[in-house]
Amino acid sequence: MSAPTAGIVESETSTGDVGTVILLGPPGAGKGTQAKVISARFEIPQISTGDLLRENVSHETELGKKAKQVMNSGELVPDQLVCDMVAERLSHGDCRKGFILDGFPRTVSQAGWLDRFLASQVFENKKCFGAPIVIQYVVEYNALLQRLTGRRSCPTCGRIYNVHFQPPRTADVCDVDGTRLVTRKDDREDVIVERLKAYEQQTLPLVEYYQSRGRLLKIDADRPMEQVAAETLAAIENGDRL
Ligand code: AP5
Repeated sequence: MSAPTAGIVESETSTGDVGTVILLGPPGAGKGTQAKVISARFEIPQISTGDLLRENVSHETELGKKAKQVMNSGELVPDQLVCDMVAERLSHGDCRKGFILDGFPRTVSQAGWLDRFLASQVFENKKCFGAPIVIQYVVEYNALLQRLTGRRSCPTCGRIYNVHFQPPRTADVCDVDGTRLVTRKDDREDVIVERLKAYEQQTLPLVEYYQSRGRLLKIDADRPMEQVAAETLAAIENGDRL
């Protein structure tokens, strides 16, 4: 699931245990874009609940059938379904050094579940599952709309493009493997508005949740991707927990 990101120079990998990194931010804030940079740098997996759910939808699994309509309307998939899916993914061996949660948790209930889950893993001596570093990307509303309506992605390698900010060399074709780029079903303006509403109502309370636990680092993501990436990598390297 980790793929290169166009336009961002990835630096050398480092090998220290990173632990749990949570990327918090509205749709279009750049969580997926930055997760790929972090993943390449620290060699830890990007766990995107949106990507996992979309895989389930395309394979028509039981979970996918339950999630499809909810996702197409811009609402959130029920907590229990998402938490079970995350627990299963975190049991894979590639999470031993750490992992990036992209788009999870998204409700206070998911955050409470995650804290209990991480504590239980530490109890089993899996040290990298300790207290997370939580990065909140802040972007202005109109910029989010422009980013989401301009987003295109490669269904083969997962690389993310943007017709305004990060276009492919040939229109609608992936630079890496020549696959025709696709637009996500939920990147229609009416659905985007619902997704942004869900973020404000159900996910924003997490800012207070993590701030009050001294774990939140806010990054202004209304800047070029390279600057956001540099600040993100430095924060993780320094182990910042504000
Ligand atoms: P999900 O797939 O997680 O979508 P999202 O949170 O809405 O986030 P996006 O993937 O849209 O945006 P992003 O922040 O990753 O931005 P990106 O890097 O792509 O969730 C989809 C659905 O699944 C949800 O609506 C819900 O139904 C369900 N779901 C998922 N997780 C769930 C959970 N935990 N609980 C319940 N339901 C869940 O960038 C966007 C665009 O901007 C790209 O084109 C990119 O090139 C461009 N861009 C990025 N950074 C910059 C920059 N600095 N400057 C200019 N352009 C930029």
